[in-house]
Amino acid sequence: MSKKILHCENISKIFNAGEAEVKALQGVTLDMYANELLMLVGPSGCGKTTFVSVLSTLLSFEEGYCEILGNDTSKMSDEDKTAFRGENIGFVFQSFNLLPSLSSIDNVALPLTIAGVSREEAHKQAKEMLNAVELADKADSKPNSLSGGQQQRIAIARALVHQPKLIICDEPTSSLDQQSGQVVMQLLKKITKEKGVSMIVVTHDNRIYKYADRTAYMEDGRILKVDSYL
Ligand SMILES: Nc1ncnc2c1ncn2[C@@H]1O[C@H](COP(=O)(O)OP(=O)(O)OP(=O)(O)O)[C@@H](O)[C@H]1O
Ligand SMILES: [Mg+2]
Repeated sequence: MSKKILHCENISKIFNAGEAEVKALQGVTLDMYANELLMLVGPSGCGKTTFVSVLSTLLSFEEGYCEILGNDTSKMSDEDKTAFRGENIGFVFQSFNLLPSLSSIDNVALPLTIAGVSREEAHKQAKEMLNAVELADKADSKPNSLSGGQQQRIAIARALVHQPKLIICDEPTSSLDQQSGQVVMQLLKKITKEKGVSMIVVTHDNRIYKYADRTAYMEDGRILKVDSYL
């Protein structure tokens, strides 16, 4: 059995939007392990983004318990959380969120340069990541000159460059065509197995369901069931 890297139990999250109160999470429990790709699926508004935001310490929560890599996230200050994410969590979104004025390699190197790594060392590591996503030849290109699939692979290289243990992907293939979506998922699956990371892929995209090691089905702020294909 792979190492457990995440344990959360009975998580509840309430949004107070003006008068109305939205119970976005109503007692969510989940464990995750190294080397696995877990897909989180369910209808729009069921709480998927809220859940991964809570897991990754971007959002606080009202009730429950969440431990990642042995750390109780409810005990962390905001500064602790920022540092923790910088060290341990990688993010990939539907919109690639690359900086248009920077070259591919500078985009990939950014998490390292922000963390104070020298430009030379950051570029060396970024180059390795560009190799891993098979875009070394685009190191000096700006994002706007790349296809959607290539931009997403650059975003994946950036999410991985600081060697996080947990990667959160929220709809990573939704804005891609079929072919690019498959390439991106093959890459995410390969990274999961080769780098021993734990990957959560939030998706509506039934073309990619086959890449899951486990699939968690969410509805109305709850995980209804988890299927395992391992
Ligand atoms: N910042 C917020 N303030 C108030 N309500 C919010 C906020 N973020 C999300 N919600 C509400 O919480 C519920 C869950 O939203 P969430 O974004 O987690 O859904 P989702 O499953 O990711 O949906 P989608 O598949 O459309 O991305 C929804 O009812 C949503 O309107
Ligand atoms: Mg969402």
